[in-house]
Amino acid sequence: MEKFKESFKLYKRKKPPPDYSNVIDFTKIDAEDRQVCSLILEKQSCDVLDGMIPFTSWKAYQHRKIPGFYFISNPFTPDGQRKWIKRCLNDFPLKPNITNLDVNYSDLIRERNVWSMHLDADSTDEEKQLLHKLRWSTLGYHHNWDTKKYTADRYTPFPDDLSCLSRCIAHGIGFPHFKAEAAIVNYYHLDSTLSGHTDHSEFDHISPLISISFGQTAVFLLGGLTKDIDPIALYLHSGDICIMSGECRLAYHAVPKILRTPTSELPYHEGDDDTVNGRKVEDTFEPFESYLQSSRINMNVRQVLCDGQEFPKDES
Ligand code: OGA
Ligand code: MN
Repeated sequence: MEKFKESFKLYKRKKPPPDYSNVIDFTKIDAEDRQVCSLILEKQSCDVLDGMIPFTSWKAYQHRKIPGFYFISNPFTPDGQRKWIKRCLNDFPLKPNITNLDVNYSDLIRERNVWSMHLDADSTDEEKQLLHKLRWSTLGYHHNWDTKKYTADRYTPFPDDLSCLSRCIAHGIGFPHFKAEAAIVNYYHLDSTLSGHTDHSEFDHISPLISISFGQTAVFLLGGLTKDIDPIALYLHSGDICIMSGECRLAYHAVPKILRTPTSELPYHEGDDDTVNGRKVEDTFEPFESYLQSSRINMNVRQVLCDGQEFPKDES
């Protein structure tokens, strides 16, 4: 069997649970790991963003075995994570963005907000449960899952704040010209997996692919240009960012497993006594935290066109 598939099957296995000792945990890098994972600290290249810790405190790593791969260990403040989680659930599934629910549930949703429908006491059970059927939302150039193409006519404005965040991250690892043009926001449940694939629909294969995770922890596999290459496995905890650029931009990757972390240990969780501007955090964030008890969100941001490139004329 291909090495990538073998590893995917191993980490997906429920019984008996696999040995996780080879999964890299960037929050617990030890002496042995240090030989393969080195800390990089570029000079500050953009303004500190709201919701992030100061750039000089970011912990960004490279992996010796995988050139072009970068890992930034949660650079968000708890408030910053809460902001993005709310954006992913309350805003990004809204029109004009496209979601997997559009095909089968457009009559039920119409122009309504799936998150609000979930919380609204007057909603029917079907309306309340729709949120749990949400799997992805696309922003900017909307990836067409059937043709696996981006086209000029399937475009809606990319959110400014996510564009700014992505630019800041790209800047930090040495890509000052990165333009966020498309994003897929993925919604996972505890039993969801994402099988091995490469992201090659973009025309630009040099610019970084920026992947930001919230909620439950994922085991992430990152291999090489073919599935014969044995992948490395690493944890993606809430707030972690991984970046695939250069040689690694077209590498196979997958999510074979989502692992549950107790809510009290999640970085966006605040104790009962915590208040922000005098009001209890719990009052507004509790429903989001409750959703994330059994979910993971991944914002996957790409540059579609090369610098200065025009969208290719439709071939048809
Ligand atoms: C993707 C992807 C990885 C993740 O959306 O193409 O690879 O961590 N996501 O969810
Ligand atoms: Mn991918």
